[in-house]
Amino acid sequence: MLELVVLISGTGSNLRALLEATRDAEYPARVVAIGADRDAEGLQLGEEYSIPTFTVPFTRYATRAEWGAALAEQIRPWTPDLLVLSGLMRLLPPAVVAEFGPAVINTHPAYLPEFPGAHGVRDALAAGVTETGASVIAVDDGVDSGPILAQERIPVLPGDTESTLHDRIKPVERRLLIQTVLDIANGHIDLKGTTPA
Ligand code: GAR
Repeated sequence: MLELVVLISGTGSNLRALLEATRDAEYPARVVAIGADRDAEGLQLGEEYSIPTFTVPFTRYATRAEWGAALAEQIRPWTPDLLVLSGLMRLLPPAVVAEFGPAVINTHPAYLPEFPGAHGVRDALAAGVTETGASVIAVDDGVDSGPILAQERIPVLPGDTESTLHDRIKPVERRLLIQTVLDIANGHIDLKGTTPA
């Protein structure tokens, strides 16, 4: 059974999908703690699913490294098998990636390496592409630059706004995230050798 710590910044809708998947006794992963860099709406899921939560507010620290050290302190006692960034809108400092890597994965609402960063959906729309996508990657020190574990194309439709497009991307992200965690648990993805899907 893979024990997961999940980090979020927002509503946690992808986390909710993962939590629903873990209700199945045959799904080989459980969320042991939920963390956030701010007072994120998705922290409420902790109460709903009886999972402990922690918040390490990014803005309370002078540097990213100090924030990362405080975050690592909160994660460490859970000894996670896998750290999942599910809408965490902060770059993890290298020391945190080094401590928990290579077992750190991230979901992204674009077909990486296209449109990395905090505005993957907005940037795809602005570029006028007809297709974007969803990706799950292993986390390295760069911005969404780690090895791609799973990804899928999603069309951009005429009249799409950032919100309608993101709403169509998210269900795909959820499916890819749930499948990737399963693949890691059953050894189909080996993060140590990082064998892409
Ligand atoms: C998701 O689409 C996730 O991929 C994205 O934030 C959203 C979180 O939604 N993350 C990034 O853009 C990271 N660069 P949620 O809080 O409803 O799960």
